[in-house]
Amino acid sequence: MTDRFPTVTVIDHPLVQHKLTLLRDKATSTAGFRRIAREISLLMCYEVTRDLPLHDVEVETPLERMQAPQLSGKKLCFVPILRAGNGILDGMLEAVPGARVGHIGLYRDPQTLAPVQYYLKLPEDIGERLVIVVDPMLATGHSAAAGVTLLKRAGAAQIRLVCLIAAPEGLSTFTAEHPDVPLFTAAIDRCLDEHSYIRPGLGDAGDRLYGTK
Ligand code: URA
Repeated sequence: MTDRFPTVTVIDHPLVQHKLTLLRDKATSTAGFRRIAREISLLMCYEVTRDLPLHDVEVETPLERMQAPQLSGKKLCFVPILRAGNGILDGMLEAVPGARVGHIGLYRDPQTLAPVQYYLKLPEDIGERLVIVVDPMLATGHSAAAGVTLLKRAGAAQIRLVCLIAAPEGLSTFTAEHPDVPLFTAAIDRCLDEHSYIRPGLGDAGDRLYGTK
């Protein structure tokens, strides 16, 4: 938790911080960026799911019967915000292979700059799942906030947001609109620039993941 943003957790695990530095490095190749994005998101998934409820079930080991913990309830749904969100989905799915996956596509209207939905596909039982929205760069915060609003309208009741880097401006916007949604990030950077890029940031996450620039 931070003093300024009480619903925000900065994941300061050394492995996460090390991998984030590799992602920031402009010399990291597209293939390297994709691999490290998968690795860091797997590690971040541990922190985001740290408090999931468990209940005991009976299991028979080769030696004896015992009561052992198992995840309770309907479990998880990951929801990447397209397209960069897909880059941190695979690591999350490695940690929780049985999770469902929804997708949200948003673009920014060139006139109004408001986020507009162009794709939405969610599991029918979204209201019964813990929904983990993944969006690597929380810049202005408008897309993530709009994505979470869409999820709430679709019935999602328990939502968390994971990003790699957040700008203070994005955190202010997001936490004001969704004070009920815990947010996890590996870093809070200095600011947004005039093009809404996070500084120092890591550049355009989608372009670096998919080699489009
Ligand atoms: N999206 C990105 O990919 N990078 C930024 O710095 C801001 C938004």
